[in-house]
Amino acid sequence: MSTYQPEDSRKVTTHRLREMKERGEKIAMLTAYDYTMATLVDSAGMDVILVGDSASNIMAGNTTTLPITLDQMIYHGKSVMKAVKRALVVVDLPFGSYQGNPMQALDSAIKVMKITHADAIKVEGGSEISESIQRILSAGIPVMGHLGLTPQSINKFGSYNVRAREEAEAKKLIADAHLLEELGCFAIVLEKIPATLAERVASELSIPIIGIGAGGNVDGQVLVLHDMLGLNEGFRPRFLRLYAEMGQAVRASVGQYITDVKTRDFPNSEEQY
Ligand code: KIV
Repeated sequence: MSTYQPEDSRKVTTHRLREMKERGEKIAMLTAYDYTMATLVDSAGMDVILVGDSASNIMAGNTTTLPITLDQMIYHGKSVMKAVKRALVVVDLPFGSYQGNPMQALDSAIKVMKITHADAIKVEGGSEISESIQRILSAGIPVMGHLGLTPQSINKFGSYNVRAREEAEAKKLIADAHLLEELGCFAIVLEKIPATLAERVASELSIPIIGIGAGGNVDGQVLVLHDMLGLNEGFRPRFLRLYAEMGQAVRASVGQYITDVKTRDFPNSEEQY
């Protein structure tokens, strides 16, 4: 496997993401929730690190993203920010922290920015939350949108199937994407929608479109780190490319350690004082 060396070592900003889109340079984005992984992801040359509310599933073992709290997201955001030198860091506002009203949304976003020192926040949804997005943006906080499969609405959708296959939903998604750009969002994540629809949105909008399960004709890609490293072993959707089998590697290493302890092989005379 190759190591990647970014040409530009400067800190990534929302403006630089826009320039990347303009010159056709794809944007790479991955999640991280803790200091150790964020150090590795950032030093590998990542453009954007998302402190995703998928931490609810990956870190806390919940079946959905709904239970994670604002304080828990702030804990993850702070840990990641201690590690990151170059990547732009985006923290998800969790379910229930911005849908109530614009003031609640603003308070949550300000709390995240003040305590974590992250660069931006991400929210899920379109016209339904436009006033909240406007209020957050008016405080000078960069906002990333998220349309298509929005996991915070899983109880409304009823499944994690591909979204916007039907014309009405596709039309609403296109209108919402334009609205998010007009409001001033600096980028949008499109999750699990037909590739042709994602391509159309990316070509109509000037802001970067980051896809997950949305095909290759968008401005960048995002995956959940633990999924692409093979640490989330049961999760193998079609859009996921597996870059390592770390689940197997961890289990084999742990198994070897147990064997070494039980057979008195570890520690040996050079591993003691
Ligand atoms: O929380 C998350 O990890 C996300 C990505 C799937 C985009 O929102």
